[in-house]
Amino acid sequence: MNRKRIALAVGALAVVGLAVAGAIMYEPAIAPITPPSPDSFDAQLKQEGVRVVALGDCVVCHTAKNGKPFAGGLPLATPFGTIYATNITPDPQTGIGNWSEAAFARALRHGIARDGHQLYPAFPYVHFTHMTDHDVSAAYAYLMSREPVQATAPANALIFPLNFRPLVAFWNVLFLHPGPLQPDPEPGAQWNRGKLLVDGLGHCASCHSPLNAIGGEKSGQAFDGGIVDGWEAPPLNALYGASRPWTREQLVTYLRTGRASEHGAAAGPMLPVTRDLATVPQSDVEAIARYILSLQKGEPPHPSPTVATSTSHEAIPAEQRGAVLFAASCAQCHGNGSPMQTIGERPTLAFSTAVNADTPRNAIQMILNGINWHGEDAMNYMPAFSGVYDDRQVADLLAYVRATWSAKPAWPDATPLVAKLKKEDSAR
Ligand code: HEC
Ligand code: HEC
Ligand code: HEC
Repeated sequence: MNRKRIALAVGALAVVGLAVAGAIMYEPAIAPITPPSPDSFDAQLKQEGVRVVALGDCVVCHTAKNGKPFAGGLPLATPFGTIYATNITPDPQTGIGNWSEAAFARALRHGIARDGHQLYPAFPYVHFTHMTDHDVSAAYAYLMSREPVQATAPANALIFPLNFRPLVAFWNVLFLHPGPLQPDPEPGAQWNRGKLLVDGLGHCASCHSPLNAIGGEKSGQAFDGGIVDGWEAPPLNALYGASRPWTREQLVTYLRTGRASEHGAAAGPMLPVTRDLATVPQSDVEAIARYILSLQKGEPPHPSPTVATSTSHEAIPAEQRGAVLFAASCAQCHGNGSPMQTIGERPTLAFSTAVNADTPRNAIQMILNGINWHGEDAMNYMPAFSGVYDDRQVADLLAYVRATWSAKPAWPDATPLVAKLKKEDSAR
């Protein structure tokens, strides 16, 4: 080929490349509609939307602290900066009031807003893409019949070049796999229902899977565990690694109440998920539990003795200091035979996922932030100690707790991690 022909060929390729890039980066707008009246929706469909919206945790992300439900404004911290959830009430100016159902469905399935702009994957459309048509319609009917709220979310604060939305189109080529999930006839209807809820609406993997450098779920590592808002979302495929086996009943109870009799309590990002799951039909949660239990690697464990105390080992200074603090601040609740255990039926720390985890992260978060007083149940309250103990004292407490209640090897000195998590917490 002579030079001219090569130049022409390269030029032609560049044009085609740009055309393809342009075509995937820019989506057409879908025409606005006049907000439909709430009465125009079938009452039954609106009712079913309650369940769909709860399973999808829509209100958890789309409601700011002390804000109106679904009116947006909640900041979501990502490694690339802060993204604010938007207003999904039917306000025509600031919400989705003039979105047709087609525009709503395109947002959930393809991550494209009504006017054609790309949405950021902090909105878990890579999972919602698997929602059934019926569930999309029900969510639409429910949301469009809420009270419209006028509210505009603050502008996102993202690093360059990710503040250029069209780039998300390339991310989608890698991570968005639209279309319904193919049912697997072998394990039966309940399992398939559970898989659809976990992988679709419930978007469990968005927290419980590790993310790669560009924020996509690492392929082949689904449910291996992830980090969200400073907490560890434990692996969901290694529940057998717990010091006591998880039964189906315990899993269902945990998902619906945030408490498991032999594993501990949800206190971090899982807590609002369980509050939502408390409102959906028991059969949905049973299907979720069935599917999660089918993901387990290895054999179910044999129950270990009630307290896995390693009494033979000689306490190091950090543990000795921790023991003193524990006696002062924790033993009244976590000591053997405390009212919390006997009357409240809460488990010993020996069974806790947080205390037996590879990282002290969640145990630190529990000690720093406690568990809020819910009003209804004194047995699930733990005060926050972030203002009481300094970083080193929290690390000492952890050293003592780990040595006393877990048979696992000691954690490395947790002081730096305590300092880091405190700093992250105060930035949120
Ligand atoms: C993990 C948090 C999270 C959850 C859960 C979530 N969203 Fe969102 N959603 C977001 C964020 C963040 C945005 C804004 C994305 C952006 O600006 O690029 C968003 C945007 C949207 C949009 C586009 C609105 C607009 O004005 O552009 C719609 C529609 C939407 N969400 C509906 C839903 C529905 C319905 C559910 C529940 C089934 C849901 N979301 C659950 C975080 C979430
Ligand atoms: C007023 C009672 C109370 C006090 C005081 C208290 N806790 Fe807790 N703590 C709780 C409750 C309730 C839970 C949740 C347990 C459950 O429901 O399974 C909990 C959970 C924990 C967990 C996680 C266990 C799990 O659920 O996985 C750790 C770790 C922990 N506490 C450590 C401490 C330490 C260390 C102190 C002292 C600095 C302390 N707690 C003081 C009530 C208390
Ligand atoms: C917003 C992020 C997030 C979402 C979404 C989420 N989880 Fe979690 N999950 C967590 C975190 C973080 C923990 C650790 C406990 C806590 O938050 O207090 C956890 C804890 C758990 C545990 C306890 C594990 C153990 O070993 O003790 C189970 C079981 C669980 N989640 C199941 C689910 C299922 C099923 C779904 C989907 C329906 C789901 N989670 C969705 C973040 C999430």
